[in-house]
Amino acid sequence: MANPIKGLVLAGGTGTRLRPITHTSAKQLVPLANKPILFYGLESLARAGIQEVAMIVGDTRHEVMAAVGDGSQFGMKVTYLHQEKPLGLAHCVLMARDILADSDFIMYLGDNFIRDGVEGFVDSFSKRTDGTNAQILLAKVPDPQRFGVATLDDDGSIVSLVEKPKVPESNLALVGVYLFDASIHEAVRSISPSARGELEITDAIQWLISNGKKVRSHIVEGYWKDLGEPEALLEGNRLVLESIGRSIEGDVDELSTLDGRIVLESGAVVVRSIIRGPAVVGKGTVIKDSFIGPFTSIAAGCVIESSEVEHSIILNGSQIVGIHRLEGSIIGKSVVVAKTERRPLATRLVVGDHSRVDLG
Ligand code: DAU
Repeated sequence: MANPIKGLVLAGGTGTRLRPITHTSAKQLVPLANKPILFYGLESLARAGIQEVAMIVGDTRHEVMAAVGDGSQFGMKVTYLHQEKPLGLAHCVLMARDILADSDFIMYLGDNFIRDGVEGFVDSFSKRTDGTNAQILLAKVPDPQRFGVATLDDDGSIVSLVEKPKVPESNLALVGVYLFDASIHEAVRSISPSARGELEITDAIQWLISNGKKVRSHIVEGYWKDLGEPEALLEGNRLVLESIGRSIEGDVDELSTLDGRIVLESGAVVVRSIIRGPAVVGKGTVIKDSFIGPFTSIAAGCVIESSEVEHSIILNGSQIVGIHRLEGSIIGKSVVVAKTERRPLATRLVVGDHSRVDLG
């Protein structure tokens, strides 16, 4: 029997802070619907039957390792590999050579989100009988110049792969999930660093194609990767909330109404309020005299009082008090946004770097 498929998960990169909420967090741990992006990937690998994962970590390794632990919460064994500098995706494959041995493996970029998971792709790759050496996933995107871009011919075979082309030849971006057999190891040893100084996995896959290996592609729906801009993060949050169910573990008083698909985690308390889903409310959060509208994620330990919040993300331990309407907003950890009666009546702000305040 063939070796079981292993996992190579990339959660390294520099500590370069993206705006606005990754100032204090690894980008792979940014939450969508209150759960780190990375966890969706790990859960989907576990569902695909992957039990052994090598995880590349960098500057933010302490935070990533604290969150993921030994992997047992996902039913897998995670071994960490510390990459001192982000020398490229193909460099990560070089680093993991010993752990991966000659097994087939799935490489998963920890900041990518795929709504429907990877189970189907892993399953078909492990059962293949046509000698495919690598399987890549592609998604149609509006801004292909920010991705690796594939050009396919009429029968769907890959003609070329180019990393972040200035003038893209198609709108098909490489999704951050790749399935490989052991032939990728020779490919990553054979390529040279790109103009940006990284060993590009795109070049390694192009090497496979140029050397007569079989590389297949598949187009996925429900792909998301964008941590840079607030609007894009809200969109990712919405994508996940669209598919949540209803689960009410917290306490709701009889003067409150919870409409639709809502996750109210244990210890959360709702008093004289309306929540209209889809929305998630984290452990121990108190919602009082407030309205929470659709597409809102409120993390653990928050207080929302006498406020209206819709289409927003609020991270752990923050307080929103007396705010008539907060919309399209991202609030970091332990933030206080409060209406004040203090004189002189004025807007007083203590706002961190790269924040944006739109006063309505
Ligand atoms: O997200 C999809 C895109 O990912 C693909 O379309 C591109 O072809 C591929 O090159 C890659 O592009 P990015 O430049 O956006 O990758 P990024 O530097 O954001 O790294 C992706 C993940 O891998 C991220 O979680 C950090 C981690 N990483 C990255 C590098 C370069 C590492 O762990 N080590 C590294 O050396």
